[in-house]
Amino acid sequence: MAKRLFIKSYGCQMNVYDAGRMADVMAVHGYARTDCADEARVTVLNTCHIREKAAEKLFSDLGRLRRPARNGGENAPIVVVAGCVAQAEGAEIMRRAPWVDVVVGPQTYHRLPELVRRAEAGERGLLDIDFPLESKFDRLPEEGAGQGPAAFLTIQEGCDKFCSFCVVPYTRGAEHSRPAAAVLVEARRLIERGAREITLLGQNVNAYHGEAPGGGAEWGLGRLIRALADLPGLARIRYTTSHPRDMGGDLIAAHGEVPALMPCLHLPVQSGSDRVLAAMGRRHTAADYVDLVARLRAARPDLALSSDFIVGHPGEDETDFEATMALVRTVGFAQAYSFKYSPRPGTPASAAEDQVGDAAKADRLARLQDLLNAQQREFNRLTVGRTVPVLFDRRGRKPRQLAGRTPAMQAVHVTCEDPDSLMGEIRDVVVTEAYANSLRGELADAPPPFAGARRAPRAGRAAA
Ligand code: 5AD
Ligand code: SF4
Repeated sequence: MAKRLFIKSYGCQMNVYDAGRMADVMAVHGYARTDCADEARVTVLNTCHIREKAAEKLFSDLGRLRRPARNGGENAPIVVVAGCVAQAEGAEIMRRAPWVDVVVGPQTYHRLPELVRRAEAGERGLLDIDFPLESKFDRLPEEGAGQGPAAFLTIQEGCDKFCSFCVVPYTRGAEHSRPAAAVLVEARRLIERGAREITLLGQNVNAYHGEAPGGGAEWGLGRLIRALADLPGLARIRYTTSHPRDMGGDLIAAHGEVPALMPCLHLPVQSGSDRVLAAMGRRHTAADYVDLVARLRAARPDLALSSDFIVGHPGEDETDFEATMALVRTVGFAQAYSFKYSPRPGTPASAAEDQVGDAAKADRLARLQDLLNAQQREFNRLTVGRTVPVLFDRRGRKPRQLAGRTPAMQAVHVTCEDPDSLMGEIRDVVVTEAYANSLRGELADAPPPFAGARRAPRAGRAAA
C-alpha cells in the first residue's frame, strides 16, 4: 500500500499551490496524499507568517501532534514544518517543538523526499531553509493529479518592495520570475488535466518580468497573459497579488483587450492616508491609487475591485483612518480583506515607537469592515436578475447542488438534475438571490420547473 502524506496548508493561495507541488515530489517516492491525518506516514504543516495569528495556529497544531509523534513506535508520523514560518523561525520551531523532524523553507521543498528519508533513518533536527541558487521549479517533477477546473500556477515569487509591515521579502526572498516558456508548458499541462481557468500567482505578481521564449526582451505580465489567452481550452485567466506601482500600461490595456482576462482585480492599497502610505513605504499616494483605478475602469468598465487594508499601522491616527474610509467610499470595492496591524519580527514597523493600541485597532477594523461588507452586499445585490457565465468547479454542500464562480469571483450555487455532468463547464446562470458572500441562481438553459410533469410516471408510483 502506498505510504500516506497529509499536508495542512495555512495562509495564501501560494501555499495551496506549494502543497500540491510537495505532493507531486513525494508521489515520485511512493507517497499518496490523504485528507486523513491519522493514517499519514508524513504530516506536513505548510505554514504562513504574514500575521501573528497564522503563526500561533502552527504552534497550537504542533501541540496536538506532539503526543503521537512523541509516543514513537511504528505509527508515529514524521512531522514536517514547511512554508514561511519554517523559513523565518526554523530554529525557534526546533527549540519549542523538538518532536518536529524536518523544517523546510518555501524555496527548498524539492528536497523534501531526501529530508524525510533521513528522518526515517533516525536523523533529528533536519533544518533546510536555504535560498539555493538552483530553482526548485527546475527540480520538481511534472504536476501530478490535476487541480480541477480552476487551477493555480506560480509565475513569480518573492518581493523586493520591503513594505514596512511585511515579512514576505524575508521569508520568500528576492523577487524572481519564472521563464515564460516554463509557465506556458505548465499551463498547457494544467489545461490537458482539465483546467478551464488559471490563476497566476506571485507575492508581487505584476512585477513579473520573465525570460522570453527564444530570448529577446523580457516579458511583462501583460505579454504573458496575452500568450496564455491563445492556448486552446483556456477560458479564464486571473492573477494575484498585485502592487499598484507595478500596474504597467500594457497590463492595464490587457484588461480591455483580452476577453479571457477576467474583469476582477485584487489590488491592495493598505491605507487611504498619504502619511501612512509613506510610513508603510508603499511609494504612492491615495490619489495615485484612485487615478490608477480610473485608468483600469476606462479599460474595463465592469472591473470588480478587491483590496487589502491594514488598520492601526504605527503612526495611524483617527484622521488617517478617516482617509482610508474616504478612499473606500470613492473607489467602491466588490470585496476586500482587512486586518489589524500585527508587528512581525524583523520588520521596520515592528520597531516603531508610535504603535497603536489594540482598542483603537479593533474599533477601526469594525468600522472599516462594516463599510466594506456593505459595499460587498451591494455589489452582489446588483447581480440579481442578471445572467452571468459561471465556471462550475465543485459540488455544493447540499444534494444536487453545484458551486462555481462568476467572472467577478462571486461564489454561485445552483441546484440541478445532474451536477457532475456540469463540472468544469461554463454555463449561463440567472442570479436569483444575493447573500453577503455568495449568490444563488438557476441555469439559464434549464428546463422549465414543470417539464417533469409531462414525463411518464415512474414505475411503482401511483398516477393521480
Ligand atoms: N499586519 C497586518 N496585516 C498584514 N498584511 C501583511 N503584513 C501584515 C501585518 N504585519 C496584510 C496586507 C497584505 C495581506 C496579504 O496581509 O494587507 O496585503
Ligand atoms: Fe509585502 Fe506586498 Fe509589500 Fe511585497 S509588496 S513587501 S509582499 S506587502
